[in-house]
Amino acid sequence: MIQTFERMESNVRSYSRNFPVSFVKGSNATLTDQEGNQYIDFFAGAGALNFGHNHPLIKEAVLEYLQEDNILHALDMFTPAREQLLSTIEAVLLKPRGLSYRVMSCGPTGTNAIEAAMKLARKVKQRSNIIAFSGAFHGMSLGALAASSDSFSRHGAGVPLGNVSFLPYYNAFDDPDLSLRYLEQVLTDDHSGIDKPAAIILETVQAEGGINVAPVSWLKAVRDICDRHDVLMIVDDIQVGVAAAGTSSPLNGRTSCPTWWYCPSPSAGWASLFPCCS
Ligand SMILES: Cc1ncc(COP(=O)(O)O)c(C=O)c1O
Repeated sequence: MIQTFERMESNVRSYSRNFPVSFVKGSNATLTDQEGNQYIDFFAGAGALNFGHNHPLIKEAVLEYLQEDNILHALDMFTPAREQLLSTIEAVLLKPRGLSYRVMSCGPTGTNAIEAAMKLARKVKQRSNIIAFSGAFHGMSLGALAASSDSFSRHGAGVPLGNVSFLPYYNAFDDPDLSLRYLEQVLTDDHSGIDKPAAIILETVQAEGGINVAPVSWLKAVRDICDRHDVLMIVDDIQVGVAAAGTSSPLNGRTSCPTWWYCPSPSAGWASLFPCCS
């Protein structure tokens, strides 16, 4: 089977280079390959399978949905399924925490959500620059890649990536306060050489850049700096949201409320945008 991939597929693939086996079954945290070898899947679909492979409740709901000839593709037209999703987000996630976000359903990937956020921030604030942090990963399409720090991925763009300024994440110095002072200085000094940004984009827990868990105090200080400088705060929880990192989500009080928050839908793998009304 592997020969078919080697023969037919382009070189544009990534994870299968590290795992040159064919996986045939997935159940909870266990993957089984074609030879019957079993693996514990710590990867979990890069955060998209927070409830494991083929969770019985999710499987049952999907099968029932298909069995009843419900709508499979409707763009953003109204359907009972979308209404139910929005009502559930409101009742389970937002109301209990007193949050007044609205939901935007973007394209099916995380990078789609980040593109939407950056576009919206630039439109709302009428500024082109965005501040991102060292170690950041926000996706592979051109806008999101411009906010990602990894030089290998950036080189793959084939064009200059602009309109994003990188500042040190909390862990770049021994003392996280230094990165805050640097950020504050850049935003305060109109001779800093960095254009005032529309938004600051960050991951509360960096995943692709190493497992870097930003301290709550640091996240709250960034929020405070955003407020004082009229800059939007975009939290990209696409890989670590919805319980993937325990209480790390802004919805669990780890940060004060970001302007926009992105999270994965573990059952479907798409990312949602919750623009805050405040
Ligand atoms: C924090 C973060 N943002 C955005 C993305 C991009 O998501 P996708 O690969 O679905 O485009 C990823 C993917 O790993 C991610 O970890």
